[in-house]
Amino acid sequence: MAGNTMLILGIVVSFLFSLPYWLPSMVIRLRTFIFTKVNGDEGIQIPGKEIDASEFKRVYAHKSAAGRSKGANLSNLFWYWLSPGAEMHQEHIEKWDNYDQIAAVTKKVLSVSNKEIEELLHKCATPIFLDNIKGKWKLVRLRDFIMPICVDFFYELVFKEVCSKQDQKVIIKHSSNVVGALKCCVLRDMPKRNQLTELLVSKLKLGLFPYDFPENYTLEDKALYIQGVFFTTAIVQMSDALTHTFLVLARHNDVQTKLSENLEDRRFLDNVISETLRLYPLFGIAHRVTTDSIELENNKSIAKGAVLCFNYPDFHKIGYTNPSKFIPERWDTISKGESNYLPFGIGANRPCPASHMSLIMMKKMITFGTKQFKLFSSVEHTRSLPNKGACILVSRNYTLSRRKKAILLAFLKVRDQWEKVYTSLVQLVYGFIMIMHARDLKLTTNYYKNPHSKDVSKTIVSKELFNVSEQS
Ligand code: HEM
Repeated sequence: MAGNTMLILGIVVSFLFSLPYWLPSMVIRLRTFIFTKVNGDEGIQIPGKEIDASEFKRVYAHKSAAGRSKGANLSNLFWYWLSPGAEMHQEHIEKWDNYDQIAAVTKKVLSVSNKEIEELLHKCATPIFLDNIKGKWKLVRLRDFIMPICVDFFYELVFKEVCSKQDQKVIIKHSSNVVGALKCCVLRDMPKRNQLTELLVSKLKLGLFPYDFPENYTLEDKALYIQGVFFTTAIVQMSDALTHTFLVLARHNDVQTKLSENLEDRRFLDNVISETLRLYPLFGIAHRVTTDSIELENNKSIAKGAVLCFNYPDFHKIGYTNPSKFIPERWDTISKGESNYLPFGIGANRPCPASHMSLIMMKKMITFGTKQFKLFSSVEHTRSLPNKGACILVSRNYTLSRRKKAILLAFLKVRDQWEKVYTSLVQLVYGFIMIMHARDLKLTTNYYKNPHSKDVSKTIVSKELFNVSEQS
């Protein structure tokens, strides 16, 4: 009897301890399967069976790959994740729908010199980089550590005044919720997001954003545009780009040492950034709807109205030796233009307007950061960063004993393994709930059903978003 109990106990304990080794990957496979079933396989995957990597850039840049949101079920999901106001976001509006005027506003806001970018970033990062670690060491989650810096930076860039602690809190709550929902780690929290819209409307009323918008834009439309471009995309993208770069350094001590000893070697810094963005591109898939047919090289063609899904992570792995390995030196011998590498999209078809600013920011933050601290980590590094880049920051004025470092790294590893069990299940459940909710709401489809009463539908859609929000 006692022998049987021990056997059962042994099986249960072994089962529990084996969970981190098989459950997360099984849940990811299940999630991909369920999501594809629920979403339907509407899009043409590129690279894929019909169009391979050699045609990726040509098709992406084609003048008929011009539709952005209308006609793609996938847009319903993105608009859901990025609401309120995806219909006002430069990234989602159609070329023929006020696009040029909106893109011109973004361009003006981003037109600042390299020196101004560096000075503002230095000012915003100083309190966090210096005061936070106070000459010692600290366990941090990089995304949470970096996000306030990005918030202060973009707030001041947009409104030309220092961000108050109170406003910073509102923006962080919004941006964290967007990034968490995009990665299916949390559900949308619309009251938090709507609080930011209200804050932005109040700033606009003070005349803090004097740019030329299309005449029919209301104050709420303008607030939603600012929220989308500068307090969703900019903060989410920059926090993630910097988290990836610092985490890569934390996990590759040789690269970190070489970088910190040769900070004036701009080429090596460039290579580290390029390799990070190759392995961890911030876009998983960018989609387009064809406005006319596109001829392919095999004499076949893509029909008008097709949804093209450009898969960045897959594209960035084709044509490289050891594609899954982080090897910054590879960029010494290969050219970015001739490689399968497009971190900021394709020049001819709505590329990232902030590519220049983003690279300056990354260089500045890495140079400044590695001068102040060393980083170490033993957590898994994936593109979706569910662990938010957990790592140890050690002030350069402090010596962390080998023993203490080994204990901390072991702690991070074990915690990460168990968190993975939990987060993979959470991602499965929340992902399913959000996909079903987005399918139900059909925000993009409903918006474009009424193209002749745009002003009315804009207001209705955003009001609808506000109401839905409260329910979720
Ligand atoms: C390292 C950081 C960043 C990366 C890697 C990145 C990447 C990209 C990519 C790949 C696209 C093209 C997507 C497509 O083809 O549909 C894009 C578009 C865009 N990005 Fe970025 N981005 C970054 C930072 C930013 C920042 C800081 C901002 C805002 C200030 C921003 C605003 C936008 C906007 C508005 C678009 C849409 C452009 C259009 O459709 O006209 N991005 N980004």
